[in-house]
Amino acid sequence: MLLLPAILALIPFVAASAVPSELSELLSDDWPLNGKGPTDKQIVQQTMNTLESLYKKNNTVIDACTKCKSTLEIGKAISLTKPELIPEIFIKWCTDNKIATAANCKTIYSRNTITASRTGTDFTNMLQQIDPWSVDGDYLCYYKMSQCPLPEMPKVDLSSWWPPKNESNATLEYGTETFNVLHISDFHVELDYLPGSESNCTNNGMCCTGHSYNKNAKPASLNTSSYEFFESYYNEDGEFVKGHDITNENYNESVWLPATEFGSYTCDPPELLVNSSLKSIAEFQKKNNMTFDFAIFTGDMVDHDELEWTNYDMTIKSQETVMRDLKKYLPDIPVFSVLGNHDTFPYGQIASHASGHENLYTWNDELFADLWVGYDWLPFDHYEQIKKHYTGYSVVTKSGVKVIAVNSNTYYQKNYYSYNNMTDNIDPFGTLKFIVDELVESEAKNEKVWIIAHIPFVDYDTLPMQAEAYKQIVTRFSPTTITGLFFGHTHQDQFNVLYAHDNKTIDDAIMNTWIDLTVTPLSHYNPGWRYYEVDTKSKNVMNSYNYYMKLNETFTNHDEPEWLFEYSAREAYDVNGTWPKTSPLNGTFWAHAAENIKEEMSAAQTYSDFLYRKSPYVPDCSKGKCSTFYCYVSSFNINEYNKCIANKENIINYESK
Ligand SMILES: *[C@@H]1O[C@H](CO)[C@@H](O)[C@H](O)[C@H]1NC(C)=O
Ligand SMILES: *[C@@H]1O[C@H](CO)[C@@H](O)[C@H](O)[C@H]1NC(C)=O
Ligand SMILES: *[C@@H]1O[C@H](CO)[C@@H](O)[C@H](O)[C@H]1NC(C)=O
Ligand SMILES: *[C@@H]1O[C@H](CO)[C@@H](O)[C@H](O)[C@H]1NC(C)=O
Ligand SMILES: *[C@@H]1O[C@H](CO)[C@@H](O)[C@H](O)[C@H]1NC(C)=O
Ligand SMILES: *[C@@H]1O[C@H](CO)[C@@H](O)[C@H](O)[C@H]1NC(C)=O
Ligand SMILES: *[C@@H]1O[C@H](CO)[C@@H](O)[C@H](O)[C@H]1NC(C)=O
Ligand SMILES: *[C@@H]1O[C@H](CO)[C@@H](O)[C@H](O)[C@H]1NC(C)=O
Ligand SMILES: *[C@@H]1O[C@H](CO)[C@@H](O)[C@H](O)[C@H]1NC(C)=O
Ligand SMILES: *[C@@H]1O[C@H](CO)[C@@H](O)[C@H](O)[C@H]1NC(C)=O
Ligand SMILES: *[C@@H]1O[C@H](CO)[C@@H](O)[C@H](O)[C@H]1NC(C)=O
Ligand SMILES: *[C@@H]1O[C@H](CO)[C@@H](O)[C@H](O)[C@H]1NC(C)=O
Repeated sequence: MLLLPAILALIPFVAASAVPSELSELLSDDWPLNGKGPTDKQIVQQTMNTLESLYKKNNTVIDACTKCKSTLEIGKAISLTKPELIPEIFIKWCTDNKIATAANCKTIYSRNTITASRTGTDFTNMLQQIDPWSVDGDYLCYYKMSQCPLPEMPKVDLSSWWPPKNESNATLEYGTETFNVLHISDFHVELDYLPGSESNCTNNGMCCTGHSYNKNAKPASLNTSSYEFFESYYNEDGEFVKGHDITNENYNESVWLPATEFGSYTCDPPELLVNSSLKSIAEFQKKNNMTFDFAIFTGDMVDHDELEWTNYDMTIKSQETVMRDLKKYLPDIPVFSVLGNHDTFPYGQIASHASGHENLYTWNDELFADLWVGYDWLPFDHYEQIKKHYTGYSVVTKSGVKVIAVNSNTYYQKNYYSYNNMTDNIDPFGTLKFIVDELVESEAKNEKVWIIAHIPFVDYDTLPMQAEAYKQIVTRFSPTTITGLFFGHTHQDQFNVLYAHDNKTIDDAIMNTWIDLTVTPLSHYNPGWRYYEVDTKSKNVMNSYNYYMKLNETFTNHDEPEWLFEYSAREAYDVNGTWPKTSPLNGTFWAHAAENIKEEMSAAQTYSDFLYRKSPYVPDCSKGKCSTFYCYVSSFNINEYNKCIANKENIINYESK
């Protein structure tokens, strides 16, 4: 006779367990060790029966969200006794119930491998630690399974983490001189980029590779025989070499839109474009007889290849390639980098120390500690800090800015290790505590801090509770201690304003973000980079200067592309020149810009041109394509943005203005 299975006792607060006794008996650890226990096959079969009755078409008693959490509960019970069975069970569950496409179900739930990006091991690790019936389950079933609505966010209050704000030291002092800082983001080098391949692909994933295709036959009327490709490259000395003509080797008549050697609007960049962008920066410095004090790189080195084509070796190779190219073209300045959501393997994952699975990811921390210290970008004594904070660190630059670098996978919704114990522990990675401690220390010293991270808090990819925590931190320490916030990830050139109150008046502006334009043209952007003129005293940005390249011109002109000045923020967003020359481009400046975007179509169109760097795909504000711009620029985090767009008054119809 079996006793009440131990497994049920592990699932508190649930009146009726989703794990039926037939299954929990099989999972019990009370089976004698004489080989009489159930076989794995029996357990899988019983689990599938349980899930099948849960998802039976006529089971309308419970909704999809409850079914999802019940599934997690069943999964948790199995993960604690038979973790090796989770992949098989969840691939089948996911496929049978069309939670995702069959291919994606396999990718998501298969055991981790080094040959393709799969996350079944991470999923199993996560299942063992979550409480399916708390917000853990709510958020998982919203973000990862799309079966629940976005839950109401539990209260987040970090105010006990710091001394109260001292309003009498809330003014910044400005200097009279400036220094220059480069900001570059999102290289996403596409190592398997192939000139001549399909850039108008219909496969679910990357175009411009040997495995890209368009499933439709090309119409005879579409004649692409005038396309040419060259095997161009940058040599050891960083000089451009127009390589030999490979048109005959690479041209394929069935391709709709052949990729040319510098890149395509639907693809990540070949290394040729990565090098072209970096060489344009090196030449800019030479031409202007200046060097940047330092550079910030806000992440994403690995491309958007299908997870099937993303593997461990390719991840490392992409990361090393981008870091090496940066060092090659910018040998004399430190590059302060953060990792993006693509800069890990499997995609998006990173395990906290507390999860007990950190060892799956330490190889990456060690790789970057080696590279950054080895390239002399960070002092040797930062090695342990980089490892402790999942490649995060804090460093004081020669110009006296303290740069705090954050690995945004610590708040990324696709990282399974973010879902454990969400109500009680807002800070599973210890990142928030690290930042706050650094800020309290800097405030006492009147030191100015920049925070750099890949994913901006306004983005859908930021988990809501972390988004709120960061808002509270930035509100507390701005504008006198935090004087700059820099991101990448969206591929668009954007900004956000942080306001003290919900009514978002200009006087209430506290801070702004800088979301960088990117080198990758994916999707439909011209490649670009920018630099900031920074006040020596306040470390506020006084002006920004963007540079870009007209990618469409390289489709026919196979020479080295020219990188052009695009705009400076002071001139572009203060068209009447009313902002004092001595005032920085701070939260107040950007709140004016946000107001203009709300009120005037011309300002919204300017912003739209810049989002795409004047590519052929710029959204036309007179055709209803810019209606959410105001909500984006006037929201600091995703929670505010969702609230903003839910109010019809904030959706701007420029045509009727
Ligand atoms: C659903 O249908 C099955 C037969 O397919 C039946 O045994 C079961 O009682 C039904 N359940 C509900 C809730 O109607
Ligand atoms: C508040 O700031 C002022 C001016 O910087 C300083 O003199 C004062 O000591 C601070 N107060 C506290 C409680 O730290
Ligand atoms: C891309 O391919 C689709 C068919 O798959 C076609 O409808 C579309 O016009 C093509 N676009 C270009 C720019 O070739
Ligand atoms: C495509 O155009 C070229 C001239 O640019 C011509 O020589 C060739 O015959 C055309 N091919 C087709 C299939 O029409
Ligand atoms: C051209 O592409 C088609 C479709 O991907 C492929 O079937 C064919 O083998 C290719 N032809 C050559 C010569 O590579
Ligand atoms: C370049 O700048 C340095 C100081 O930064 C100056 O000494 C030098 O004369 C300048 N060279 C040219 C060609 O302007
Ligand atoms: C959840 O987090 C709290 C606060 O960090 C901690 O005290 C508690 O032990 C955690 N619970 C679990 C189940 O991990
Ligand atoms: C500003 O206020 C904080 C909090 O009261 C205090 O710790 C810090 O020393 C003050 N900074 C300066 C420069 O006075
Ligand atoms: C904005 O809201 C705050 C707090 O609710 C209030 O103190 C302030 O007066 C409001 N400002 C305007 C212009 O309505
Ligand atoms: C921005 O700078 C102006 C001029 O120096 C100042 O009046 C304003 O308070 C500053 N705004 C913020 C949010 O720091
Ligand atoms: C600039 O000045 C013009 C003419 O006075 C005015 O119509 C426009 O609204 C102003 N623009 C901004 C952004 O202040
Ligand atoms: C490239 O795109 C821009 C913006 O649409 C357009 O003005 C320009 O004519 C295009 N150049 C070429 C060579 O197609």
